[in-house]
Amino acid sequence: MMMSLVFLLGLSCTFYSGSTMLTAKSEPSIRQLLEKQQLKLTHLEFTLRHVLIKVLFLTDADVHAPRRLPPDPVLELSQRMNQLLQRLESEERAADILSRIEAKINASECEETTSNETLVDHKAKALANVTEQHEEKELPKLDPMQPAKADCYELEDATRRDGVYKFLVPELNEVGRDFNERFCAFTLDGPAWTVIQSRGPYQQQENFNRTWDEYRTGFGSLERDFWFGNEFIHKIVYRDDHMLRIELEDQDGARDWGEYAVFRLDSESYNYQLVIDGYQGSMPDALEYHNKMDFSTCDRRNDQSPRENVPCAVRFGSGWWFDRCQECNLNGIYPGSGGSGIIWADWRSGNYTLKTARMMIRPVRFAPATAEDTYDE
Ligand SMILES: *[C@@H]1O[C@H](CO)[C@@H](O)[C@H](O)[C@H]1NC(C)=O
Ligand SMILES: *[C@@H]1O[C@H](CO)[C@@H](O)[C@H](O)[C@H]1NC(C)=O
Ligand SMILES: *[C@@H]1O[C@H](CO)[C@@H](O)[C@H](O)[C@H]1NC(C)=O
Ligand SMILES: *[C@@H]1O[C@H](CO)[C@@H](O)[C@H](O)[C@H]1NC(C)=O
Ligand SMILES: *[C@@H]1O[C@H](CO)[C@@H](O)[C@H](O)[C@H]1NC(C)=O
Repeated sequence: MMMSLVFLLGLSCTFYSGSTMLTAKSEPSIRQLLEKQQLKLTHLEFTLRHVLIKVLFLTDADVHAPRRLPPDPVLELSQRMNQLLQRLESEERAADILSRIEAKINASECEETTSNETLVDHKAKALANVTEQHEEKELPKLDPMQPAKADCYELEDATRRDGVYKFLVPELNEVGRDFNERFCAFTLDGPAWTVIQSRGPYQQQENFNRTWDEYRTGFGSLERDFWFGNEFIHKIVYRDDHMLRIELEDQDGARDWGEYAVFRLDSESYNYQLVIDGYQGSMPDALEYHNKMDFSTCDRRNDQSPRENVPCAVRFGSGWWFDRCQECNLNGIYPGSGGSGIIWADWRSGNYTLKTARMMIRPVRFAPATAEDTYDE
């Protein structure tokens, strides 16, 4: 009995410190909600104490009447704890909804310059709209705010909506790009992938002829064409084994894809060297030629072409793992010509420049089991 009491007290401490953590993590702008939450948490703590007192009482009874079997206080408390945790979870959901409302209001404030409605009007409308939508209950729609999740692969399978998601809390790099804001893409099976590179037929094209520093920190809009950033990519794949998936589309809309079971990007001190292995796909593997190559940009030459030649990165106007120089280059000029475009050799002939290209990564351990795996052992 004493043992379980110590355990219970420990539990109550964990629970309480959990509540303070929640407060510190949230934004000051949702203070009102937090105050409400604080109240509820205090209330929950009271309830918990109540239960503890009851347990103490039962322990006492146990000592005085050893022959009588009391109801199992640990079981009762664990049921109670489950209830409390469920309530806490719903509180967190409420906080999430509120921050979405705020984001919506913020967004409508930005539109103010183009529209001629009053701010109040706009705010009221947005609020009404969000409230209305919230009342419609659990519509499967994209929820970009995912503070309880850390990466695309953790997204719920229910909605499978591609788009930009914000995980955890913002973690900005030196140019203000957020490590935890990611474009997530779902494929036919398995959890979502994190897109690290994207090209497409946008009217306003992002410039991919960028410096070493720009490729390091990332550039472009996650909603359109972008490079996620060598440092971010390295940071993700360094923690956990990752796969790489390449998706291509030609000018006629024909698509194909290939996957590498191994994808690593070394640190900056190793020039973000590329390591790939285990290719599978119906299109030819044009990236193998670039395997174990260092990254090059117009201002940093790490290619293997003769020194008297123009550096590959300058010639093809992009950062890439150039060798002598390329068999593929998804960062090329858009729309390029004479080999300087979006290239994937041997899938389409010669200097053919593709319409869209995407590179995406996912942890290996979350890849869906193949038939082979299932019958293994
Ligand atoms: C809304 O804007 C305010 C300041 O303008 C900012 O403090 C707050 O974080 C923004 N909220 C969201 C959810 O973007
Ligand atoms: C809004 O429209 C009114 C007339 O409809 C005009 O007088 C006013 O200048 C406009 N305001 C802005 C900010 O465009
Ligand atoms: C309400 O939201 C929907 C979908 O998000 C949008 O289509 C509609 O225009 C919004 N209405 C107002 C009044 O803002
Ligand atoms: C890329 O940028 C560098 C440096 O500004 C420039 O010298 C080079 O000509 C550019 N390459 C292309 C293909 O535009
Ligand atoms: C690609 O373009 C270059 C010119 O930049 C040319 O020398 C080369 O022959 C072309 N390759 C093919 C296969 O068309």
